[in-house]
Amino acid sequence: MILIIDFGGQYSQLIARRVREKNVFCEVVSYKTPLEKIKEKNPKGIIFSGGPASVYSENSPTVPVEIFKMGIPILGICYGGQLMAQVLGGNVNRANKKEYGKTALKLNSKSLLFNNLPSELVCWMSHTDFIEIAPEGFEITATTLDCPVATMEDEANKLYAVQFHPEVEHTEFGREIIQNFVFGICQCEGTWTTENYIKEEIEKIRNVVGDKKVLCALSGGVDSSVAAVLVHRAIGDNLSCIFVDHGMLRKGEGDQVEKLFKNEFKMNFKRVNAKERFLGKLAGVSDPETKRKIIGEEFIRLFEEEASKIGQYDFLVQGTLYSDVIESGTDTAAVIKSHHNVGGLPEDMTFKLIEPFRLLFKDEVRAVGTELGLADEVVWRQPFPGPGLAVRVLGELTDDKLEIVREADAVVREEIKNAGLDRDIWQYFAVLPNIQSVGVMGDERTYAHTIAIRAITSTDAMTADWARIPHSVLEKISNRIVNEVKNVNRIVYDITSKPPATVEWE
Ligand code: XMP
Repeated sequence: MILIIDFGGQYSQLIARRVREKNVFCEVVSYKTPLEKIKEKNPKGIIFSGGPASVYSENSPTVPVEIFKMGIPILGICYGGQLMAQVLGGNVNRANKKEYGKTALKLNSKSLLFNNLPSELVCWMSHTDFIEIAPEGFEITATTLDCPVATMEDEANKLYAVQFHPEVEHTEFGREIIQNFVFGICQCEGTWTTENYIKEEIEKIRNVVGDKKVLCALSGGVDSSVAAVLVHRAIGDNLSCIFVDHGMLRKGEGDQVEKLFKNEFKMNFKRVNAKERFLGKLAGVSDPETKRKIIGEEFIRLFEEEASKIGQYDFLVQGTLYSDVIESGTDTAAVIKSHHNVGGLPEDMTFKLIEPFRLLFKDEVRAVGTELGLADEVVWRQPFPGPGLAVRVLGELTDDKLEIVREADAVVREEIKNAGLDRDIWQYFAVLPNIQSVGVMGDERTYAHTIAIRAITSTDAMTADWARIPHSVLEKISNRIVNEVKNVNRIVYDITSKPPATVEWE
């Protein structure tokens, strides 16, 4: 296992991805993690991430000098490398100008870190501070025009520092450099595969749960679906799934989820049809936050009611991902947004959580889903907000408006899929802005709804850009919606990024 110590760098998760794609398990922990905890994890190697701070500014993140004496190989990247230099008695200074972007690197390929690499390559730099003097015992193994110590190492103590970022795509042979560290220097084995993960996780779940009862709030989304199937594999009918259909799902979605889990996977599955109840509570409400709050609360009440019918249970399954844990859990990454998650249950409920994906990234969960036999439609499903279409009908919700947006959305999804764009675009959907405008159809004047199309590219939905969908695809979507969906006479395309807009319209 490799431990990544995070100093708040923007690429910390990317380092983890690079290690894991080589089938080596790794974890990201805050630089504040005590040495004892680090020892307990027994890592074969440690990577220090980059970070925005300056090693010589007050209160900048640091590590105790003892970490370098544990005999565990360490690779310091950017800030992590500067910190290694400073703590071990070298000198870090502020450059007159920032070194940013692609930079030519001359290296000594005798270094284990550069094993099998050419003696010159292009690396990605992003720093103002630089290592001016390497600590005693260190050899300089690469330079750039502006960096006297672009990389340095103390081979005897297995300490390595690089000023550039091997984890980003722009660094040539960056993957190989990380691979050389992980395999050549740390002697990891590369046995961490999806198949092994499933096996171990099933074993763990069986041991923890025994013959007790487990409950799962199934939403039909990727994470909860894969989690449910995995737990079912482990404990069979001791798992009960509750699927609350609030009536604001996409076209055909409720039936698909029911068919999959009840008929195909033969799971203990209860669908709660609660459209009337939700729409009743939402009648006359147009404020977006109030709508969300009502849906969230009603969801919890319903879930509690249904759970109490099932009887005593001791565990609850949640599809929490590693990115959620890192975002909300480390001291270094700022908490960016706390979403209402339909699985977010009240604090006074007594159960223990089973979170089989707490240490996995989204694409790893997808791989687990595929390995467990889930179809691509489930595994590659685009994200869908807990409050569903309610946040895509602006203002007051009615059954008619829901129907319009649901039908329009089905067209958008179908055409994006037909165009082969469904895996490139992060999210794509229809919105009903609740405005009517004048149009002409046949010889008749119409006064009908507008549908907005929203499609974004993103890696995490924290920031997003509008997708450059080919005009021909937009044309097809537009034609089909005005022809097939009643009471719509105008289509617009949302060309705002996030920020300043958000992904959803409410
Ligand atoms: P926004 O609109 O905040 O959306 O830019 C960012 C991402 O989060 C999804 N989203 C939600 N997901 N419950 C969820 O589970 C919610 O209340 C919620 N609101 C937005 C949105 O679809 C996008 O992927």
